[in-house]
Amino acid sequence: MEGDALAKGGRNGAAGGTTPEWTSDPSPLLDVQGVTLQYKTRHHLVTATCRVSFQVRRGDRFVLLGPSGCGKSTLLKGVGGFLKPVEGAIRLAGREIDAPGPDRMMVFQEFDQLLPWKTVRHNVMFPLLASGRLGRADAEIRAMKYIVKVGLEAFADAYPHALSGGMKQRVAIARAMAMEPEMLLMDEPYAALDALTRRKMQQELLRLWQDTHFTALFVTHSIEEAIIIGTRILVLSPHPGRVRAELNSVTQGVGSPEFAALQARIEDLVFAGHAVEEEPHA
Ligand SMILES: Nc1ncnc2c1ncn2[C@@H]1O[C@H](COP(=O)(O)OP(=O)(O)OP(=O)(O)O)[C@@H](O)[C@H]1O
Ligand SMILES: [Mg+2]
Repeated sequence: MEGDALAKGGRNGAAGGTTPEWTSDPSPLLDVQGVTLQYKTRHHLVTATCRVSFQVRRGDRFVLLGPSGCGKSTLLKGVGGFLKPVEGAIRLAGREIDAPGPDRMMVFQEFDQLLPWKTVRHNVMFPLLASGRLGRADAEIRAMKYIVKVGLEAFADAYPHALSGGMKQRVAIARAMAMEPEMLLMDEPYAALDALTRRKMQQELLRLWQDTHFTALFVTHSIEEAIIIGTRILVLSPHPGRVRAELNSVTQGVGSPEFAALQARIEDLVFAGHAVEEEPHA
């Protein structure tokens, strides 16, 4: 089975080498430096993250891991350009992020992120047309390329209401990938799926990555998912989120001693509140 093969070997291409072979550029694609993000409500000032720093290189599957309320989604909003840091800076390819842009595409947890009145094909085409990136004919070719990649070609003319939750998430991923963004921002895209579908989708994402080597910033509060998906894992403390550790993931799959050891180490960090530690890129 393909999923098992992926889980057993060669899964985390970036975790095993020095400089990844698909990029010769050693400078970070995303540079988050000392970022504090806050929400101002009528009566309160909520500090969601406090002086968070990390760097994402091209081809990384970089995971933000931490308990509910630690500011993972807030960090994605910051990188997405929806929220400005009150302290620190977020740079993409050297430029400070000051607004949302088609170079960063979001995939959310909710199944209802598709336009219900458009078919799968037209949902995937929509941002390509709305951003003016491609004309109709090219947008359709590009959309179908990514619909095929997520295995939904038979459903290209179906409407979202006829799809399962997992299929809707596949369409959302195809739609984001079709824009060929600098970075995919994924906010717990599998959290609402059943365990089996979730595992299948994780393996599918890794297969897509083998195919296109996209760069992803992936949020989860599942330690297991973080290790399966990630090449790098940033462990955040509870509210307000601070960096507790930045770790390399392992190439071995679930059930291996390496996987279990990393899982235990992260559990210890999450639950025992250890001090900050950082590993150099593998
Ligand atoms: N729009 C908002 N206005 C005010 N406070 C907010 C807003 N959104 C989030 N917060 C607060 O910011 C903090 C971080 O929230 P955030 O949604 O980033 O956490 P999270 O790590 O994504 O949690 P979860 O795993 O539950 O999704 C929380 O204390 C939350 O209550
Ligand atoms: Mg969240």
